Amino acid sequence: MEENNKAVTNDYVVIKAKEDGVHVIGLTRGSDTRFHHSEKLDKGEVMIAQFTEHTSAIKIRGNALIKTHYGDVESEGKK
Ligand code: TRP
Repeated sequence: MEENNKAVTNDYVVIKAKEDGVHVIGLTRGSDTRFHHSEKLDKGEVMIAQFTEHTSAIKIRGNALIKTHYGDVESEGKK
């Protein structure tokens, strides 16, 4: 982890799936923004993740509770 890179923090993001088949997708850092990892969570499963030198954004598909330093938010699946 780069010491001076303010985008990389020690903060964790907590994601709790509220339905089966929630996808947590990591997107690459840098000029080329693409998916590099997809994790499938079933209902009740929790993933604890960080932003790293490889990961600048996290996309969540499906209904999940997301807890961050900035507050809580709930993602919703398509109706
Ligand atoms: N190897 C990845 C990385 O260090 C793992 C990862 C970190 C990840 N945060 C993530 C994967 C968030 C998916 C979502 O960047």
